[in-house]
Amino acid sequence: MEPFRGLALASALQALFATGVYDELEHGEARPAALAEALHLDEERTIAVLQFLAVEDVVAFAPAGAVGLTPRGRAYGEFRAWYAMMVGGYANVLATLAESMAAGASPTARRGEWVALGSAGVDVHSSMTLIRRLVARLPAPPRLVLDVGCGSPRYLGAICAELGCRGIGVEPDPAAFEAGRRQLEGSDGTVRIVRGSAQDCIAALDIVPDVVLTAFVLHEVLGQSGEDGVRRYLRDVFAAAPAAHLLVIEPDLRQDDPSVMRHGYARAFYNGYYLVHPFTGQRLAPREYWEELFRSESLTVVAGGTTDPDIDSTGLELGWLLRAAPGQ
Ligand SMILES: C[S@@+](CC[C@H](N)C(=O)[O-])C[C@H]1O[C@@H](n2cnc3c(N)ncnc32)[C@H](O)[C@@H]1O
Repeated sequence: MEPFRGLALASALQALFATGVYDELEHGEARPAALAEALHLDEERTIAVLQFLAVEDVVAFAPAGAVGLTPRGRAYGEFRAWYAMMVGGYANVLATLAESMAAGASPTARRGEWVALGSAGVDVHSSMTLIRRLVARLPAPPRLVLDVGCGSPRYLGAICAELGCRGIGVEPDPAAFEAGRRQLEGSDGTVRIVRGSAQDCIAALDIVPDVVLTAFVLHEVLGQSGEDGVRRYLRDVFAAAPAAHLLVIEPDLRQDDPSVMRHGYARAFYNGYYLVHPFTGQRLAPREYWEELFRSESLTVVAGGTTDPDIDSTGLELGWLLRAAPGQ
C-alpha cells in the first residue's frame, strides 16, 4: 500500500502549499479554525488535511488544539516548487493515465499556471547555475533576453536581475500567461510578457534580442510540430537575430539507462517527469538527438554542460549556448 500512501501524501502537501496554510504555519502555530477563516477555507476539510498530515509527521497538534509544522514538515518547504509542478501541474495527467493510454486518445491538458510556477521555482534552484556558466561565455553582456516559453516570468526576472538587462517572455498557455501578466503588474517594465509560441513569436515580435532562451521548450515544439517545427524555430531565431546566442536547456532522456535511473533523485523526480511527457503531447529526446539536430542546422556549440552536480548529480539537465556559424 506504500504507493497509495505516497499519492495521498503528495496531494495533501501540495494542498498545504497551494492554499497558503504552509506559509501561515511557517510563521508559527495556529488553530485550524483560525487558519480556515483567514484563508477562506472550509474548516472541516482543512482539519481533514491537517489530521492526515499529522499522522505523516508533517504537522503536529498541541494539546490545546493549535497545529504547527514538525521538523519533517519544515524540510518539505525547500521542495515546494517540485510539488507545484508535478502535483499542481500534472496530477490530473497521472490520474487519467488509463483513459489516455487508449489508442487515438488526445493529449491530456495540464494545469499550465502550476507547471509554469513550479518549473520556474525548480529552475531558479537548479538550471540557474548552468545558465550562469553558459552566459559567462557570451562575448558581451546581453541587453535584451527573449525567453521563449517562459512559463512564469520569475525565472527570466532572476536572469535579467543578474545580468542587468531587459527581458521579454513569450508564453502560449493562457493561464500561465495571465498569471505572469498579473505578477508583473506594477513592476518597472524591465521584464515583459507577451502571449505567443515558438512557432509564431519570432516573426510577430520584430525585435533583435542578444540572447534567446529556450528552457525546457524544444521538446514541447518537437511534440507539437515535429522535428520540422524545431528546425523552423531554430532558423527563425537566427534569421531574425543573426548575431544572437541561443541558450537551450533540455532534459536528457535516459529513462532506459539503469546506471542513471538507480540514482535517488532520478527515481524520485525524473522517472515521474519522464512519464507525463508523452501524455501531454511533449516529446523528450536524448542528448545525442539534440546535438545532431544542432549540428545538422550548422549551429556552433559555443559552450555546453550540465547543472552543477552538487545541485543535480544525475547529469540529466543539459544546456547549450549556440550561435549561427559564421557566414550563415
Ligand atoms: C516546462 S515549462 C518551462 C518554463 C520555463 N521556460 C522554465 O524553464 O521554467 C514549458 C513551457 O513551455 C510552454 N510551451 C508549450 N508549448 C510551447 C510552444 N509551442 N512555444 C513556446 N512555449 C511553449 C508551456 O506553456 C510551458 O510554460
